[in-house]
Amino acid sequence: MITGRGSSTKRSRSVPTLLRLDSSAAGRKSVSRELTGVFTEAWRGEVVERDLHASPLPHLPDAALHYAPRLRTGDEKPGAAAERLQEQLVAELLAVDAVVIGAPMYNWSIPSTLKAWLDYVHVLGTTVPFDTQDQPLAGKPVVVLSSRGLEYGPGTPDEGKDHTLPPIVQILGVSMGMDVTALVADLTLAERLPPLAPLAGKARDSLAAAHEQARELAGKLSGAL
Ligand SMILES: Cc1cc2nc3c(=O)[nH]c(=O)nc-3n(C[C@H](O)[C@H](O)[C@H](O)COP(=O)(O)O)c2cc1C
Repeated sequence: MITGRGSSTKRSRSVPTLLRLDSSAAGRKSVSRELTGVFTEAWRGEVVERDLHASPLPHLPDAALHYAPRLRTGDEKPGAAAERLQEQLVAELLAVDAVVIGAPMYNWSIPSTLKAWLDYVHVLGTTVPFDTQDQPLAGKPVVVLSSRGLEYGPGTPDEGKDHTLPPIVQILGVSMGMDVTALVADLTLAERLPPLAPLAGKARDSLAAAHEQARELAGKLSGAL
């Protein structure tokens, strides 16, 4: 779905286009969706939306899709529909100027719906340089908005146990060369789980800071593109 900011819903070269990806299964109560919403509202340009939870991608159906066609062995023939879907997802990513990703922490990791998207777009020889120097997504900004029930920052008991952001940074940033910025909202379970109730104030501060940072970054990025 393409939504316009202001009165126009048409794609145009003069305004920057953002791809918004959501993956939370929590619907309206989702903190990561709230944050991608804040980011999108502050984006001065057009927005393409893909809801990976409401319209999940099939798990990668064939390992051959991890390789550009020229890097496949002769017997590797992924189905035409899967190839078309992959081409569409990669084209969507190439066409936009920036990406915002809602990335809730699920079991210390990323939702499988988001992992499926990463598996489709991380392609050796297409989006990742392998036998050439091409890195078509190099420098494209990606903002990852990660919500988690506990807290994982420096000095906290669970420091080092966040396995949500590291794979996203590795895949999109290190491997695909995109310019990744991560913002987090911590302790989102403080209102739900009684033992965490004393941390409710800290949770509110974390969310307020994430709102402000998301708004500021969206304005800055869309103004600079
Ligand atoms: C399936 C599932 C697994 C979760 N696993 C963790 C976890 O490992 N660590 C954690 O801190 N919070 C965990 N949570 C809490 C979520 O990270 C938290 O509710 C967060 O706000 C989810 O993002 P959302 O609000 O956008 O849905 C989990 C929640 C769900 C639904």
